[in-house]
Amino acid sequence: MAYETILTETRDAVTLITLNRPKALNALNSQVLEELIDAFATFEADDSQRCAVLTGSGDKAFAAGADIKEMSEKPAADFYLQDFFARWTSEIVKKVRKPWIAAVNGFALGGGCELAMMADFILASENAKFGQPEIKLGVAPGMGGSQRLTRAIGKSKSMEMCLTGRMMGAEEAERANLVARVVAHDELLDEAMKTAATIAGMPPMAAIANKEMVNAAFETGLDQGIIFERRLFQILTASEDKKEGMEAFIEKREGNWKGR
Ligand code: CAA
Repeated sequence: MAYETILTETRDAVTLITLNRPKALNALNSQVLEELIDAFATFEADDSQRCAVLTGSGDKAFAAGADIKEMSEKPAADFYLQDFFARWTSEIVKKVRKPWIAAVNGFALGGGCELAMMADFILASENAKFGQPEIKLGVAPGMGGSQRLTRAIGKSKSMEMCLTGRMMGAEEAERANLVARVVAHDELLDEAMKTAATIAGMPPMAAIANKEMVNAAFETGLDQGIIFERRLFQILTASEDKKEGMEAFIEKREGNWKGR
């Protein structure tokens, strides 16, 4: 698929995907979302690729939300009958088993904040601004924001954000556990690529299992989650990479991963 609204490149085992509609602050129209699904599917299918980074082009925005101009004239029946947003969210969240990072370089509002929260974790530049301002448009989050934001930062803060539509700066977002780390604006991409390269250097099957078990904490009760974790741990002990990883430690050398 030839892309018009995103850019992709690979650097060793890391795929970089850049939302590229800077004049519209990288607003997510249906073309962007379709291209994103294709880019993530390509990343997932390529055995040489082990971690991805998603960021926004330009200096101002990661993504300022779903495209309001596209949505403004759309009849309500079409939103419902097309199950609007369902495919885009499930294809990215449920089908990408490899780790990926959102590098948030500016506004991450509405669908932009929701897209960032679909990542395995968020690295933010000090200019990042997060928010769910949909209420000001007479609607509400539609790509998982009310659920993921609440699970990340708790009810009180999430409710305040959704009801007032206010933005949260990077420092507040880090204090509230929405983001893993805040870095200087100019260093964001380098830092995200470096972090992704670190993850890409880990045993790939163990990376998938680690992602799956941390995600289970959001989807299951504690007892079930702990059993799920233990089973995945036990499965990993049968892998070639477990044998290699433990031997490499004992022999004081780097592991040579097979991904199985
Ligand atoms: N959709 C479509 N276009 C958008 C957009 C969006 N979400 N956000 C910004 N743009 C466009 C603007 O219309 C403008 O285009 P023109 O130059 O053609 O007028 C361009 O991007 C630059 O934006 P501004 O001039 O507004 O820039 P600013 O610096 O003055 O303000 C901003 C920046 C505060 C982010 C402001 O653009 C803004 O409030 N954007 C909308 C944020 C929003 O409401 N997001 C939620 C969308 S609904 C949603 O996402 C639903 C969901 O849950 C999935």
